This record gives sequence, C-alpha cells and structure tokens, in this order.
Amino acid sequence: MQAVNALIRTRLASDVVLINQISEHIIHSGGKRLRPMLHLLAAQAAGYTGAEHVPLAALIEFIHTSTLLHDDVVDESDLRRGRKTANALWGNAASVLVGDFLYSRSFQMMVAIDSMRVMRILADTTNRIAEGEVLQLLNIGNADTTERAYLDVIERKTAVLFSAAARLGAVLAGLPETQELALARFGMDLGYAFQIADDVLDYVSDADTLGKNIGDDLAEGKPTLPVIHAITHGTPEQAASLRRAIESGGVDSLDNIVEAIRHSGAIDYAQARAQAYARSAKSALEALPASPAREALAVLADYSVDRSS
Ligand code: IPE
Ligand code: IPE
Ligand code: MG
Ligand code: MG
Repeated sequence: MQAVNALIRTRLASDVVLINQISEHIIHSGGKRLRPMLHLLAAQAAGYTGAEHVPLAALIEFIHTSTLLHDDVVDESDLRRGRKTANALWGNAASVLVGDFLYSRSFQMMVAIDSMRVMRILADTTNRIAEGEVLQLLNIGNADTTERAYLDVIERKTAVLFSAAARLGAVLAGLPETQELALARFGMDLGYAFQIADDVLDYVSDADTLGKNIGDDLAEGKPTLPVIHAITHGTPEQAASLRRAIESGGVDSLDNIVEAIRHSGAIDYAQARAQAYARSAKSALEALPASPAREALAVLADYSVDRSS
C-alpha cells in the first residue's frame, strides 16, 4: 500500500495548477483505499509474484476518485472525507473536468500495463459505472422504485469496480477461469454489501464519524434500500410520509423520517441483506487455496458491513 500511495502521488502530477490543487485536495483527504487494498490482496491470494499489481491498484483508486468528483456534483454534496468537497470549494465545472483528468490518467496507466484483457475488463467496468449513475438519476424522486431496480443500480455504480479489482488479481496471476470468476464474484458481493452498508450509514451515522453529511440520499429523493423497504413494509402512515419525502426531495425533519425508517424494521432488514452479501462473498473464497491473503480478504468482506465510516 505504501508503494501504491507513492505512485498515486507521483501520477497525480500535471503542469496545470488547478488540476494539482483539486486532485491533491481529494486524494490527500484520506479515503479508505479499499479498492486498491482489495486488488493487492486478491493478487497475493492468487499467488501473483510480479509488480503490475501496484500500478493497477493505483489506477483503480484513480477511477474511484474520479467517480467521487463527479458523484458529488450530481448529488450536490458538500462534505467528503471530512472536508469540503471539490465542488463546494472550486465549483461544479472544475470538479467535473478534474474528474475527467483522473479518469483519463487511469487509462494512460492502464495502457502502460499493456494487457488487452486488463483493458477490456476495465473498459467494461467503467462503462457499467456510468450506466449505474445514469440509471440512479432516472430513479430520483420515484417512490415506487423496487428493490430489484435498486440492486441493479448498486451493482453497476459500485459493485462492478470491486469485482474488477478482485478479478484482476486473478488475471495478473494467470489463474484458471473458475478461480478468476470466483474472485470476480467475491468482489461483486462485497461491493453489494459495501453499498448497502453505505446507504444505511446515510441514515444512522453522523457527519463527524462518516466524513459525509448524513440524510443526503433522502434530501435528494434517492430511493435506497432502507427507504424502499420501509415504504413497502412499514405502516400506511410510515409509507405515506416516506413517499412524500422521496417525491418532494428536501427534508424538513430528517429525525422523524429516520424514526419511521427505524421503527419499520428497514434498518435491520438492510443490515441483514448486507451481511448476507458479505457471507456470500466469503463463500466464493473457497475456490482459492488457504493463505493469509485469503484470510484478509474475508476480513475485508466483514469490514465492508461492520464499518462506521
Ligand atoms: C464511497 O466509497 C462511494 C461509495 C461507493 C459508497 P468509499 O467509502 O470507499 O470512499 P473513500 O474512498 O473511503 O472515501
Ligand atoms: C457512490 O454512490 C457511487 C459512485 C461514486 C459511483 P453514493 O452517492 O451513495 O456515494 P456517497 O454516499 O456520495 O459516497
Ligand atoms: Mg453521493
Ligand atoms: Mg451514500
């Protein structure tokens, strides 16, 4: 991870000052570096002994970071990683454009790895992420969004990048297809678990712990699993107030809404769903030989659900 972080630092560089300012702002605000860690561990668990996993991990973090810059513009968020977002400090235009810079830098790094398989997987992945964010946009304000439609969005916007990070460990190591697909499955299920947990945290955490403002999803009318479940399984009163909140966006009293969601059992339900995905992820690991790296991957799956930020 030290090598990955060093590479992230050197590959951020541009002679355009604003690019350096914004990209350093977001990259050095921290972030859990979960996707690069997942890639390194997957490569290790796959028995890879080369050096290509370091640039791959760094470029995967660049892809992630570029989606955050774009996502915060779309979501009109003003807090990320405990600091003001780039869009809050420099405006939407600058954030989108620097997001594009990081995204295209990731492709420069990808080409340097010089593997058609790696490029194909990442080209397909980034294309799916874009689809996910657009699909999500279409669901904004729709209180009839189903759990299936929600899962489709989170698979694309979040899980596919985790899946690629894990799968590429197997690709580098040249593992047989069954094991490559097992690692892809592991990353995908971990990604589902991770995003469902994120959507729960948006209701139950606080800004200091999370480093993001809570209640953002409801405020913008984004129907995530806790709300979807409360609308379909809560009392008629709970359902009606949540429908209104999703349809009108903007929330007068987040506290009342969170109470309604909690009382409907939707938080417990969503947490149980996230845990089920983490369990499923861990079972996919059985296709790999036991190793400390495989153990660490299992820990990562549990952490995705149990985390507080
Ligand atoms: C945030 O991802 C975006 C989601 C998919 C929920 P992370 O929670 O991994 O963000 P950082 O990199 O740690 O800030
Ligand atoms: C993040 O979705 C997914 C991507 C960045 C592609 P969210 O909107 O839920 O993430 P946060 O909560 O802003 O980190
Ligand atoms: Mg967001
Ligand atoms: Mg969120």
